[in-house]
Amino acid sequence: MTMPQRKLGSTGIIVGEIGMGGMPLSVTGRPSEEDGIRTVHAAWEQGITLFDTADSYCLNATENGHNERLLAKALQHHPEAVIATKGGHIRPEGRWETDGRPEHLRQACEDSLRALGVEAITLYQFHRPDPKVPFAESVGTVAELQREGKIVHVGLSNVSVAQLEQARQIVTVASVQNRMNLFDHSSMDVLKRCEELGIAFLPYSPLNGMGNARGIGSNETLSRIAASHGASPQQIALAWLLRLSPVILPIPGASKAANIVNCAGATDVKLSAADIDELNGIAAQITA
Ligand SMILES: NC(=O)c1ccc[n+]([C@@H]2O[C@H](COP(=O)([O-])OP(=O)(O)OC[C@H]3O[C@@H](n4cnc5c(N)ncnc54)[C@H](OP(=O)(O)O)[C@@H]3O)[C@@H](O)[C@H]2O)c1
Repeated sequence: MTMPQRKLGSTGIIVGEIGMGGMPLSVTGRPSEEDGIRTVHAAWEQGITLFDTADSYCLNATENGHNERLLAKALQHHPEAVIATKGGHIRPEGRWETDGRPEHLRQACEDSLRALGVEAITLYQFHRPDPKVPFAESVGTVAELQREGKIVHVGLSNVSVAQLEQARQIVTVASVQNRMNLFDHSSMDVLKRCEELGIAFLPYSPLNGMGNARGIGSNETLSRIAASHGASPQQIALAWLLRLSPVILPIPGASKAANIVNCAGATDVKLSAADIDELNGIAAQITA
């Protein structure tokens, strides 16, 4: 990857590069463990150093931590890799539910420490505000876990600007992970606030999500710009994100090695100002 990269503060997070999302390696449709590990190795060989995961990336609650264990195994000889995990979602019978209670987050953090085989988690993200639990209680628990040395840096996910500000009263926030891609600009206000504060922003579903990623080239504007650069539509989507802000670190998910290799190539794409203008308009076309 050739884009200028820079470390954000004291975190191990290098913004301006491509990370990798681990979810497709552990949910429905996942590859064999052997193929999954091959994909993680392919990412590492491309210079990808941040791997996003969660205790809930699994088929159901009987195998919590599936993705954390897979990434830890694949990256066991690369201790410098950053495996960023999350807690706050549960998977009863495969459903996605939230649990932001302090007792759950404490147990989830202990389980993640064990699954990752580390004494402290480099970046622990509170996965999603739980409407049943005061946000400050959940964030306060994560802050306590940090004070106890179990977490190095604290991140948030699926938060509004107001929630980010509330959390900042309680803990130093290193990163925010919200949905953001060419077709979904709904977190632009959160991104701008992260930029002002020098907080890393990890756009999730950067290719519009697992079910849509392969087909994004059916957008005429995107496919035309991709063809003009000799790039894939997915590379253009990631290059657009990288140009949005200096605090961005997109985390495309991939189960196939060829796909994550293709994503890593996004840092070589040089979009023109005219390309950016056109790409900025795609979300408006969709909602018009
Ligand atoms: N914080 C949250 O609430 C939250 C929610 C969702 C996701 N996430 C995180 O964000 C990561 C990314 O989001 P996502 O997985 O939902 O969606 P995504 O990254 O938009 O799309 C993932 C899909 O893109 C396909 N893909 C990747 N590179 C490709 C390429 N170059 N050409 C064609 N297809 C390509 C992959 O297919 P193959 O599998 O066939 O390789 C994969 O299934 C997740 O893995 C997870 O770590 C977080």
